[in-house]
Amino acid sequence: MVVCLVFTLCFFVATSSGSSALKSAVNTSDSTHGALQSPPRDIEIPFPNFGRTARLKFAERRKNQRRELIQNLRDSINDQLILDDSGGFVSGQRICLPLKNTRGGARLKSNTAGASGTLVSKKPFDPNILVVRAMRQIIHGEFESRMGRSAVDRGIPTPKKRWRVNYRHENHTYIDLGKDFDMDDKSFTITALIRLRPSSGDKKSNRGARILSKRDSNNFGWEFVVPSYYTQTVSFYANQHPGHIDYGRSSIPGNQWTTVSIVVDRHTYENDVAVITPYIDGLPDGRGTFMQIIGNISSDALLTVGHARDENGHLSEGRRDFRLPGSPKYNPHFHGDIRDIFVWHTSLHKQQMRKHAAQILREIGRKPNPCPLGYEQLDCRCYQVFDDLRTYELAESACRQEGGMLAMPKTERIQDFLEILMQQSNMWSFWIGLDDRVQERRKVWADKSELHYRNISQFTKFPRGIPDKQYHTEDCVEELKTRPEFVWNDENCIKLNAYICEVKNTRNECTAAKL
Ligand SMILES: *[C@@H]1O[C@H](CO)[C@@H](O)[C@H](O)[C@H]1NC(C)=O
Ligand SMILES: *[C@@H]1O[C@H](CO)[C@@H](O)[C@H](O)[C@H]1NC(C)=O
Ligand SMILES: *[C@@H]1O[C@H](CO)[C@@H](O)[C@H](O)[C@H]1NC(C)=O
Ligand SMILES: *[C@@H]1O[C@H](CO)[C@@H](O)[C@H](O)[C@H]1NC(C)=O
Repeated sequence: MVVCLVFTLCFFVATSSGSSALKSAVNTSDSTHGALQSPPRDIEIPFPNFGRTARLKFAERRKNQRRELIQNLRDSINDQLILDDSGGFVSGQRICLPLKNTRGGARLKSNTAGASGTLVSKKPFDPNILVVRAMRQIIHGEFESRMGRSAVDRGIPTPKKRWRVNYRHENHTYIDLGKDFDMDDKSFTITALIRLRPSSGDKKSNRGARILSKRDSNNFGWEFVVPSYYTQTVSFYANQHPGHIDYGRSSIPGNQWTTVSIVVDRHTYENDVAVITPYIDGLPDGRGTFMQIIGNISSDALLTVGHARDENGHLSEGRRDFRLPGSPKYNPHFHGDIRDIFVWHTSLHKQQMRKHAAQILREIGRKPNPCPLGYEQLDCRCYQVFDDLRTYELAESACRQEGGMLAMPKTERIQDFLEILMQQSNMWSFWIGLDDRVQERRKVWADKSELHYRNISQFTKFPRGIPDKQYHTEDCVEELKTRPEFVWNDENCIKLNAYICEVKNTRNECTAAKL
């Protein structure tokens, strides 16, 4: 393996006619046209005395390598794109492309080769060709139009199925959707509009709940589970292997209509490789997990909303929780409301998911995002995660320049929301506006209010409830992505972290926060 240094090149993309000019940038299944879709022409390589097999092998490797590079470049652009509420492309944003140090380039070692045993290509394939080509198109002003052209007609495809189920746990043990519909060996996307209603504010009362289940008595089939038993995130079950996996990392907010989705892409890669990405309100909860899912995941069980039943219609029981006294079985009964379920036999991409979620949320009266560019709204505040690395103090001043302050997750509701935003970032640790720089062990929020963390009715996310203060210099608080959940950690303020800013919402349409 060649080890590559990664440099970064940044530029601004502007759309001429505002946010609707580009609906989406990249078609992940098409490599035939568009700015990033055209791979460099094949490079002629002399093969003096080697056999046909070696030549074909080499060509094949080249092809795969190139496909992978194009995919990586697309992914890196897609990951960075800021989208507006309708999934449109936002003007004036900064995009970075990875530049690789390609000295050494692509080499081929061939066992079938002649005496030397090694063939080194004279003109190695250079991934930077793609980046340079994109740059040239930007300079010549063709980039957007090419991106736009490859992105026309990228609306939301019609779902294969849409059920208005109007499930409520008081009225339903489950809703039966019959046996007719299944996933087979296809890519698919499931979205549900749900409202978790944890009993008396205890989020853990709703655990391992089935939104949609089709799993028989031999455990063949699949299940869409939200919130998952252990981490209260988006989870999916497919056959016995891989079984249940918590694909999400963000907790699902309670008492609020929310769209939750799972996108299972079994098309982009071959050999049973699936890419599985959970979404919350149209935002991906993480970058997607690569998983092996073999063959047909259909089963003869009944398709059931709000619970799990086998092929005979029997309600299934949850597994035992050996961590609790008496190791009780948990109840997979969904606690709350499920209004709609949509299923596609294709994997929707980020822009489509965003647009689709916005559409559903608009239907139930959730207002469009009134925040400044790049910020996401919760109640009356707007939040944005910034990926550049800063000390606490410099992060503070960056947020001040934005007209706000470092974010203050004073409630579980805000914390849950920030987790979804942090999941959009590749970074691992993020400053929030909480520190005890002025007086040791007196933790003060960015708005100068104090966090009385010893009062157990105050919300905190410290693993042991209080700052650990391993060193008394740990005066500033960061959010850490850990397994299984996000936690707060006190840390030295001169550590360089990504950070989260909050600003007031710019329009005056915000009613009082419903916390
Ligand atoms: C991508 O492009 C291909 C070929 O033009 C098309 O068949 C496919 O439906 C497109 N995919 C999406 C998700 O739009
Ligand atoms: C569902 O339950 C609620 C309260 O538990 C009740 O008011 C409502 O009438 C029920 N709806 C139906 C369709 O049974
Ligand atoms: C998958 O299995 C089901 C039965 O479990 C069958 O009806 C269906 O045709 C299969 N699909 C494919 C693509 O083989
Ligand atoms: C603890 O916090 C709760 C909720 O903010 C507050 O009502 C209560 O008065 C606090 N208790 C003490 C002892 O400060």
